[in-house]
Amino acid sequence: MIYSQQEPPTRREQDRLLVTGGAGFIGSNFVHHWCEQYPNDRVVVLDALTYAGNRQNLADLTHLDNFRFVHGDICDRPLIDSLLQEEAINTVAHFAAESHVDRSILGPDAFVRTNVVGTFTLLESFRNHWEKGGKLESDRFLHVSTDEVYGSLGPDEHAFTETTPYAPNSPYSASKAGSDHLARAYYHTYGLPTIITNCSNNYGPYHFPEKLIPLMCINILLGKSLPVYGDGQNIRDWLYVGDHCRALDIVIHKGQPGETYNIGGNNEVKNIDLVNKLCELMNELAPDLPIRPAQKLITFVKDRPGHDRRYAIDASKIRTELGWIPAETVEGGLRHTIEWYLTHRDWWQPLLSQEYQAYYRQVYV
Ligand code: NAD
Ligand code: TYD
Repeated sequence: MIYSQQEPPTRREQDRLLVTGGAGFIGSNFVHHWCEQYPNDRVVVLDALTYAGNRQNLADLTHLDNFRFVHGDICDRPLIDSLLQEEAINTVAHFAAESHVDRSILGPDAFVRTNVVGTFTLLESFRNHWEKGGKLESDRFLHVSTDEVYGSLGPDEHAFTETTPYAPNSPYSASKAGSDHLARAYYHTYGLPTIITNCSNNYGPYHFPEKLIPLMCINILLGKSLPVYGDGQNIRDWLYVGDHCRALDIVIHKGQPGETYNIGGNNEVKNIDLVNKLCELMNELAPDLPIRPAQKLITFVKDRPGHDRRYAIDASKIRTELGWIPAETVEGGLRHTIEWYLTHRDWWQPLLSQEYQAYYRQVYV
């Protein structure tokens, strides 16, 4: 059976969630989804508010009685121990991570610290909490991960399945792979009810400006060049963030502990085709572009070191076992996203800070 948004899966009376990284892109979309779908649940967000975290992403939820924001680090074991206990958490949804490949090339340390050590700290703390609470089978630790752990596909290779061997190529994907292995090991060794999801590239509202789609949209609005790495023939499998959040909801409610679920949009697109599509849509939707048509801004730049050629997800397991399929088309999802960036300049303009400009100069030299 296919679950639609109107037809949520069966569930417990009340869940008490700790959402790590809930002030970031996917985490904040997930928190909005959860608070709308399950207003009686308790949702505690733990976020260190790095450059990628933003309180504004959750500003409309702060008045809710069942919502709490905690500014803190997932490496802080005493903080996590006390939060799990005082909030009687039964579900951890773990999004917190350093998430940008280009930043991992410039400075891998933070990736190992947050993605590996932070995940380990959370797993240890949750194990302790779960054991003290009688090892309830219904408790969950959802570890949100990426398709990048599987490495790069050749043009004719079958898309990644849950049994594709891990072959991470960047410090980002290697650190995520390490955290996936820990989540898996905690199920096999201790029985901790962990579930891993590996998802393809997301896009949508609240996406930090340095990632491909928001970067291109914002640069088009500012009349700045659109830097396409290498020959632009790299392929990514794009998924609208709302579809990802719905998949995670179903995995939390229906997924089997110890399992991995691949989540993808079945939307493989070459980078250059995606950038051309964004230009086309911006020409149509934005009336006062400084440079028109926006395609004039496309510039091929030096390639990313170790740039993976192709990612693609085979999402048949989550479709057949849990009934999830993506609802959004690329065309529809890109239109929503562009409209959101057009109407939320007050969200993204402050993010183009001095720190952002310094990062930009380092990557696009
Ligand atoms: P993001 O960079 O937008 O957000 C990460 C959040 O984690 C930020 O709010 C940041 O402040 C917080 N954070 C970072 N270090 C922390 C720490 N030490 N303690 C507490 N909070 C910390 O990332 P995103 O794109 O929303 O990705 C969320 C998760 O989904 C990540 O685990 C990522 O690997 C995974 N993922 C992302 C994509 C994608 O396309 N963006 C695809 C698949 C999987
Ligand atoms: P990104 O959003 O960084 O995601 P990932 O590398 O994790 O898939 O980049 C998506 C694709 O776009 C990737 O192939 C790199 C490419 N890219 C560019 O060509 N130019 C850019 O300025 C950026 C940020 C990415």
